[in-house]
Formats: sequence, structure tokens, C-alpha cells
Amino acid sequence: MKKTLLAILMLSCIVVFAQQRTKTPQLNIIPEPVSIKATDGSYTVSRSTKIYITDATSEKTAQYLSDYYNKNYGYPLQITKKKTDKDVITLKNTANGQITGGYNLTVSEKGIEIAGNEASGVFYGVQTLIQLLPTRAGVLPIIKGVEITDYPRFEYRGMHLDVVRHFYPVEYVKRYIDFLALHKMNYFHWHLTDDQGWRIQMNCHPELTQKGAYRDGEIIGLYPGVYKELPYGGYYTHEQAREVVQYAAERFITVIPEIDIPGHCMAVLATFPQFSTVPNEEKYCARTWGIFNKFNNVLAPTPEVFKFLDDVFSELCDIFPGQYIHVGGDECAKKWWKESEQTQKFMRENNIADQEALQSYFIRHVQKTVVKKGKTLIGWDEILQGGLAPDAIVMSWQGIHGGVAAAKNGHRVIMTPSGYSYFNNMQSRNQTNVTHKGYIPLDKVYNYNIIPDELSPEEAKMIIGAQACLWTEYYPTTWKLECALFPRLSALAENVWSQKKDWEHFKEKMPSQFDRYDLWGIRYSEAFFTMYDVVHGEH
Ligand code: ACM
Repeated sequence: MKKTLLAILMLSCIVVFAQQRTKTPQLNIIPEPVSIKATDGSYTVSRSTKIYITDATSEKTAQYLSDYYNKNYGYPLQITKKKTDKDVITLKNTANGQITGGYNLTVSEKGIEIAGNEASGVFYGVQTLIQLLPTRAGVLPIIKGVEITDYPRFEYRGMHLDVVRHFYPVEYVKRYIDFLALHKMNYFHWHLTDDQGWRIQMNCHPELTQKGAYRDGEIIGLYPGVYKELPYGGYYTHEQAREVVQYAAERFITVIPEIDIPGHCMAVLATFPQFSTVPNEEKYCARTWGIFNKFNNVLAPTPEVFKFLDDVFSELCDIFPGQYIHVGGDECAKKWWKESEQTQKFMRENNIADQEALQSYFIRHVQKTVVKKGKTLIGWDEILQGGLAPDAIVMSWQGIHGGVAAAKNGHRVIMTPSGYSYFNNMQSRNQTNVTHKGYIPLDKVYNYNIIPDELSPEEAKMIIGAQACLWTEYYPTTWKLECALFPRLSALAENVWSQKKDWEHFKEKMPSQFDRYDLWGIRYSEAFFTMYDVVHGEH
């Protein structure tokens, strides 16, 4: 009797399990949604399919979907505001006050309905729908019945681009933003100034781009490399920056501009040598990489410099409407301040105890301008030194410790630890082209634990999300840049969006994702999946 009962119990478990399996179809969506349930029927998108929007907040998203369809499948989908019950893709903003970015997507015989918690949720639902479509034109877009519920894990899902070491035209920046949109990422961190150039028009100081946007040469090959004379440069006008902001906004992406001070300022000093602690030395935009301790690239604390910072950050706040402004603050070689009698005098007169406190003085000064404009300051984790400016957000790049310290002090934190999220590093140990020498394969990005174990659940709430960075010293071409970005961006996206991670499942989904990359014209690295790496590497 007992045996029979046990057998029945086991059998029913198998049946339930099997039913659950059939109810979770393999759709290979990246990032993985919260829940996917198969339902009866199917819907085929055709020339007669209309996009019906219930209100104006979905208008741009409907246009995006129609354009996407046209680009990839050869014809646009008509958009209508008239209620339609069948043969329709309904985009509905429910404004229900639930989690920002959340949505429900339903596919049935009648059509497709995307109900977003608000406008961004509708857009993310459209991104999921895009992944239900065929990866080749000409294949009938038959979508099986399904109910998908989804919402993001983190409110901040970011990707950075350094346009200083190498410059990318505005059309490519938009393409980069498209990549982020396809991955439900919502912040684009634009690193606009550094030692090697100043890349944003400034009406308050037009000289910054007349002089500071250009350098005489760069190195070829791995640092220290071989110097090559090569006039190089470029910058974005206000108009172009606003175009990028608008383009990003239509994809629910906020642009965060970074002007890096008080170090990494050779391009400023090339323009205004008088802002240096050694104004009489020859100044020029850096022609090599990783120079921060070798060349004097710091701003001197003088009234002219603080006025310059007020003007520049004020103008930056006016160009970029987003909430966040990035002040940099990283790798400031304080020895130049220590060696300067003028700087030491300024510190004594202003009761500034040491160089770290002076750095903090700079950051707090800029923060006042930013706050006056109603915005919030972000800085790299060095801004913790000498006391953190109130309400500043920390990007933890030198490992996780800066993030842990800031979160414990009640500051908001974005995790960007270089060992997990600097995509300029190698994806494969067998890589033959030149990159930074760290090793960050796909699984390392995927399995990176964003919330540090050291934090209590309350402290963990201060971690608002994570971001990967792409520093472009070794990325002079978009081809190479994309191969660094992909497929790691897909791993990052699942890490910051999905509630649960499953590495084995993610790997199974990757061939479909590669097909999508092909459809999207994205160039990518297959390093992680090559036999060579499987046999000889660590996988
Ligand atoms: C950094 O990588 N210096 C932020």
C-alpha cells in the first residue's frame, strides 16, 4: 500500500513538473523576464497588423516599433489611435503606480497586448516583443500564445563610453544608445573630457574645443607603444548633444555627462596653462595613455579655476536635462598639489588639512553649482577621500570597498568594479589584438554579485544598480569596440534586470542572441564559445 502511494505521489510530481515545463516555453529572451507562461493559439504579424495606442505617452514607442519592423522586415506597421480589437498590437500605459519599467505582454489569436506600468514599461514590453520576432526577414512572424510578466531588478542599469581616448561620431553614439535600448538599459554615461581631449562645446569657453579637442598624436600598440604623429580629435556641439539626449529619451535612456576634474585635466591645461600649478611648463593634450602620475594634469585651486568650474558645470547642467551630473574625481595625482607652494598657501589660508581634503573641496565646490541647478552629483569612488559631499552618488570602480563604505554611510551607490565591469579588458586569454590586460570573460560579468555580501538588507538598498565601462585607449574603431561590448552587454543586462540568474540557461540562450546580433548588424566576440577556449581555457 505504502509503495503504491509513493508511486502515485512520484507520478503526480512528474506530471506536474512536465506540465510546468510545457508551460515555460524556451523563448530565449535576454534579459530573462520574471515569468513566462505558454497559452493556446498564436498570432501572426502581417501587413494588416496595426499598432493601437491608448494614449499619447506610447506614441514614440509605437513609432519606434513601426520603424524597427520596417528596417528589419521590410514594411512599417500602421499606427492608430482608434480602438481596434483584433489584428492589433495594443500599447497601453496603465499608469498603475506599480514598479517602474514593469509590463505585461500577452499574445493570443486576437493579437498582442503590452500593458506597461508607465511609459517606460510599454517600451520594455516592445523590446521583449522584438525578441519574439524571427531573426531573419522572410520567416513568417508566427508568435505562439504567451503571457509574460516582467519588471527590473535595479533602477539604475548603466553603460559608459569614453569618447576621449578615441572619438565616435554622433551617429555612432546613437547606435550605441540603440544597443542599450535593445537590452533594457536606462543610463548612458558619456565620458566627455580627459587628458587626451575635451569633447563638448562650451559657449562659456569656446577655446576648450578650439584647442583642447585636438592632440598631435597617440601611441600604437600596447602601452608604452610606439608614438605616432597623428592629428586627432573632435567634439560634439550643443546641438548634437541635445540630439543624443532626445534620441536616448525616446528609448527611456538618460544621458549622464561627465567632466572629469580636478585631475585628468591636461586638455583643460593645454587650453588654459594658467590653471596649472606649474603655469610656465609647456602644455598639450596627452598623446599617450595612463599618464596621470607622470604629467602634471591637475587644476590649481585658484579663484580663476573655481570660476571656470562654475561656468562649465552650469553650462553642462543646461545642455543635459537629466538628474545626474558626473564630476569624475578619479586618479587625481595629488603630488602636484604637494609640490606647489601656491597650492600649499591656498590650503593654509582656507584651513584645508591635506591634499585629500583639497580634492574634497573641489568636489564640494562643483556640487554647489550642480545642486543649484536642481541636480545630483555622481563621482568615482575617490570622492570618498577627505569626506563625501552630502547626497553625492558614488561609482565604486576600485573594487567594491568604496561602494560598501558609501552605502554604510547612507550614500547611494552604482557598482562598476573594474575587475568585473571594465569591458575594455580581454574576453579571452587567446585574444590576439591589443586590449587592457585584465581578463573579464562572459561568465565573470554574468556571475558578478552586484550586492556586496558585507551589506545588511537595509544598507543594500543604497546600491541602486550597476554599470559597465568601456575605456577606449585600445578601441580606435567601432568594429573593435563592438567586439568588446558583445556579448558581455547581454550578460550585464541580465544581471541588472532579471530577478533570478541562471548561467546554464543564459548559455543556452546565447545562440539565439547571436542570431539577433546578426539581424541587428552587431559585431561580437564568440571567444567564450570557441573550442579553443573550451579545451584550453578555464571553461
Ligand atoms: C577610472 O577607471 N579611472 C574611473
